[in-house]
Amino acid sequence: MAMTILGTGSSFPENTVTNDDLSKIMDTSDEWIRERTGIERRHITSGEDHSDLVCKAAEHAVKQAGIQPEELDLIIVATLSGDYSVPSAACIVQDRIGAANAVCFDVNAACSGFIYALNIANGYFSAGMAETALIIGGEVLSRIMDWTDRSTSVLFGDGAGAAVIRKAENKLYETSQGSDGNRGNALIYKREQIRNPYIQVKEDEEENHLSMDGQMVYRFAVKVIPKCIEEVLEKAGLTVDDVDCFLLHQANRRIVESAAKRLHIPLDKIPMNLQEFGNTSAASIPILLDEVYQSKRLKKGDKIVLCGFGGGLTWGAILMEL
Ligand code: COA
Repeated sequence: MAMTILGTGSSFPENTVTNDDLSKIMDTSDEWIRERTGIERRHITSGEDHSDLVCKAAEHAVKQAGIQPEELDLIIVATLSGDYSVPSAACIVQDRIGAANAVCFDVNAACSGFIYALNIANGYFSAGMAETALIIGGEVLSRIMDWTDRSTSVLFGDGAGAAVIRKAENKLYETSQGSDGNRGNALIYKREQIRNPYIQVKEDEEENHLSMDGQMVYRFAVKVIPKCIEEVLEKAGLTVDDVDCFLLHQANRRIVESAAKRLHIPLDKIPMNLQEFGNTSAASIPILLDEVYQSKRLKKGDKIVLCGFGGGLTWGAILMEL
């Protein structure tokens, strides 16, 4: 089975935080952040909720797709930082945009979430369970950051991206996915401690935040991106030259450039916007997809590769024809 993209959208908080702004609240510098990551600024909420961002991105995508919200059979939000555990962010979107006929749920595959969600939608299409879906990646990671930890808090940003997709016959679609829970400690966020009548609650327990072994994640990323991209190309019997555009998770410029070098992909086929947004986790690929769509750089029939990696550990790539 395969799909076509009908429309895309994105949304981010108004508040922009530059590297220099961060250097006023922690011991860091524009030079350090730029050199190690390529990030120059990011959007950090000063009021918008996760729900506001995902709903706005969804509204833009549905409008651009030119469909009625009632035509949606499926809404999936990839996220690890929603406002509520229940209802899901997807149910909130359903209510806000009036998509009364959609089945709605969230998935958490960290920064690979948008890839995982597209593959789930493709499975729904194959099983005849849906025809039209809205797939969103949205995060308010600033909510779970340790703002005293300069090694993680400078890397991430808040935002949401969305795509309306529709089942399509005879279109190219290949995917490769994987997970490795054994290396889960490399990027970890533990929820609050359990509180129930049978547990002695430790009142002095510290607040939980995201923590990361940056170097381990770096080593993982530079290996896994080329591996899963090579796998989807091999499945399709194509080479890098056959692909028009590679949309890679926007974590770090050095990671993207390393993958480009290993795969011999010219950099002009790999758009980047991490300098503007930082790492927005599950939102990074759909925000980039929207940017590329709005710039009209892609046309019908073009082949694109999407590739994500992140906490879990998780990774995945999709090769699709537009
Ligand atoms: N500003 C200034 N100095 C900083 C800093 C910051 N924001 N963060 C860390 N440092 C310091 C460290 O304390 C260390 O100082 P020391 O040598 O005095 O101990 C020094 O910079 C080097 O730290 P290190 O962690 O070795 O840097 P690095 O070269 O590995 O770069 C990352 C750190 C996080 C940029 C890099 O490991 C990385 O990009 N990893 C991948 C992370 C990622 O993409 N995660 C998301 C995946 S979805």
